[in-house]
Amino acid sequence: MHWRKNVQPRFLLHVVGARPNFMKAAPVMAALSARSGIQQRLIHTGQHYDRGMSEVFFQQLGLPHPDINLEVGSASHAQQTAQIISRLEPVLLDHRPDWVLVYGDVNSTVAAALVCAKLLIPVAHVEAGLRSFDRTMPEEINRVLTDQIADLLFTPSRDADENLSREGISSEKIHCVGNVMIDTLVRLLPQADERPILTTLGLNSGKPYVLVTLHRPSNVDNRVMLTGLVTALAEISRDLPVIFPVHPRTRQRLIDLQLAETTPNLCLIEPLSYLDFLALQRHAAAVITDSGGVQEETTFLGVPCLTMRTNTERPITIKLGTNTLIGQDTQLLRHELARILNGETKRGQIPPLWDGHTAERIANIITNSPG
Ligand code: UD1
Repeated sequence: MHWRKNVQPRFLLHVVGARPNFMKAAPVMAALSARSGIQQRLIHTGQHYDRGMSEVFFQQLGLPHPDINLEVGSASHAQQTAQIISRLEPVLLDHRPDWVLVYGDVNSTVAAALVCAKLLIPVAHVEAGLRSFDRTMPEEINRVLTDQIADLLFTPSRDADENLSREGISSEKIHCVGNVMIDTLVRLLPQADERPILTTLGLNSGKPYVLVTLHRPSNVDNRVMLTGLVTALAEISRDLPVIFPVHPRTRQRLIDLQLAETTPNLCLIEPLSYLDFLALQRHAAAVITDSGGVQEETTFLGVPCLTMRTNTERPITIKLGTNTLIGQDTQLLRHELARILNGETKRGQIPPLWDGHTAERIANIITNSPG
């Protein structure tokens, strides 16, 4: 592929599928819609389909209603990926876009990239280059494969550029543009502040509370690990409120183990909307998580984050930000949380280019890249 300046692709197609994709696609679509001569379409694979995991995000983020929903739903990884591939191919053949944009590291990302590569349709990967170096994580496979076949790679930080170079990806394709999810956060923080969620949960007295999200198979599909985590959270909740919006995957595991019990101070609730979750993150004393995006959002917000994983594909949140890796050690979790509550908080900085303008940089580059 060769690059020319000032060539406007006419027709861009965005593929999203799961909750963490939506806050990344929204600012890119908005930045592109402000440019003349650009047509866009949005395809939802249907990987996430519950209202609380999908529709409510579309509303709050201002994403347009998807032009097409492939409605693949839940299945094994192989089946889900295969369904996306077989249902997306005729759509792409029909539309023949100049570029397809894929986001993050979910099954929808790699499936869409593969269809594009086979049809010789240029594909751009937003949030490229992140590596946990742990191939037991399904997302790591998705990241490595998507980056190998993408034609344009938009990275959030320099460590991602280095990962891509090490894997032999040509530097011409790599653009360090910053963190697009932070664009959404910056834009919607004032709206999040208007939400009554703290009052609803009885948290507005200024007293500290802990916010929890857990959904990785390594934590919630393992009976011993999940039991240990819930025991630790119950202990923590003796000292301060613990708010735990429960992902559907985690909810099922908790029900199976008869652990889905709310006590006055350990509050298990349905998954929250983007704005409510952001409001809770901003004011939390600490966040306990295994999510990728939450490690980044807490770094931006300056809120201490304790990550229940042995590795992270977002090392900049440890190096510069407020993140600490806890592994699967619930003793260490209690110890680190006690330190935070004692005021021994890690002082973080906001990484370069996490400035709310990443989507504009992406729009500039893609509109100057011939399809
Ligand atoms: C997926 C992503 C993960 C991301 C997470 C965010 C992959 C490999 N994993 O994991 O990287 O961090 O989304 O949420 O793509 N379910 C529902 N309703 C829904 C969606 C799922 O009830 O709307 C249940 C189903 O029982 C399903 C399970 O949750 O089997 C897991 O869903 P799935 O999309 O397979 O993976 P996530 O764990 O959500």
